[in-house]
Amino acid sequence: MSSHPSQIAAGAARDRLPVTLPRLAEMKRLGEPIVMVTAYDFPSARAAEEAGVDMVLIGDSGAMTVLGYPSTVPVELDELLVLARAVRRGLRTPFLVGDMPFGSYEVSDEQAITNAMRFVKEAGCDAIKLEGGGPASCARARAIIGAGIPVMGHVGLTPQTATALGGYRAQGRTAAAATRVAAGALALQEAGCFSIVFEAIPSDVAELLMRRIDVPVIGIGAGPATDGQVLVFHDLLGIREGLGARFVKRYANLQDEMVAGVSAFAGDVRSRDYPAPEHGYSIEAQELSSFRERLT
Ligand code: KIV
Repeated sequence: MSSHPSQIAAGAARDRLPVTLPRLAEMKRLGEPIVMVTAYDFPSARAAEEAGVDMVLIGDSGAMTVLGYPSTVPVELDELLVLARAVRRGLRTPFLVGDMPFGSYEVSDEQAITNAMRFVKEAGCDAIKLEGGGPASCARARAIIGAGIPVMGHVGLTPQTATALGGYRAQGRTAAAATRVAAGALALQEAGCFSIVFEAIPSDVAELLMRRIDVPVIGIGAGPATDGQVLVFHDLLGIREGLGARFVKRYANLQDEMVAGVSAFAGDVRSRDYPAPEHGYSIEAQELSSFRERLT
C-alpha cells in the first residue's frame, strides 16, 4: 500500500528530534540553512511543526498580523503571552523564541529578566528575542543571559524603534550606517546572544558581516549569505491585505481564499442552500411525536 505524502510528512514530524542550541550551532557549522517562521496561535504552530521548520518566533509582529494594531509598539506582554501559550501547545520540535515587546525590557535589567522569565515559565519558550544593538539592549541581553535564558539579538531595521530610524526602511545603506549595524551585531555577539536577526540591510553588508559573526544569523531582507531565513507567517501565506515589504516572497494567497470561503458561506445562507439535510441531526419519529404532544 502506498503512503499519501501527508502521511509521510506526519511520520517524519513524529521522528524529528527537538531543535536545541547545540543543533542550531551545528547547522551553522555544517552550512545547513536554518528555517524560522513566526507563529501566533495553535493552527500556525501546527503548520510550522508539520512543515518541519527549525525555529518558531512568537513575533511582536503579531501585534499587527493578528491583533490589528497599526504597529508593534502598543502590544502588551500579557497579550503576547496568550499567543505564546497557544503556539507552545501546537509545537513539539522547533526551537521556540518569544519576542519581548516594546516597553517590556528597556527600563532596567530587573524588568527585562522578570519579563523574559514570563515567556519561559508561563509559555514554555526556549529563548527570547529583543531588538537593538546599542549599549542598553546589550546590557539587557547580558542580564537575561546571566539569568539563564538564551537571547536572540536583532539589528538593522528594528520595528519597535522605526520612528527613530526614520520609518520602516532598509538600514546600513551607507558606510557609516553599515558600521553602526556591524557594531550592534558584534556587541550582541559579545554579550552572549546565541543568534542574531539581521533585518532589511543590504545583502553585501550582511555578507561582509557574516565573516565576523560566529553565532547563527537569521536574515529577513538581508540577502542569501545569512545562516537562515525568517518570514512572517501571514506575509508568506498571503493572510493580509497589500503586498508587504520588498523582501517578502508569497507562497500562498490565503486571504483571498478566506474571503472566497466566507463569501460562499454567506451566499449559501442567503439562498438557503445551507444547511442541507446532511448537516442536521435526526430524531426517531416516535420521540418527535411525543415531543410534539408535550409542546401542545
Ligand atoms: O516580530 C517579528 O516578526 C520579527 C521578525 C520579523 C524577525 O521580529
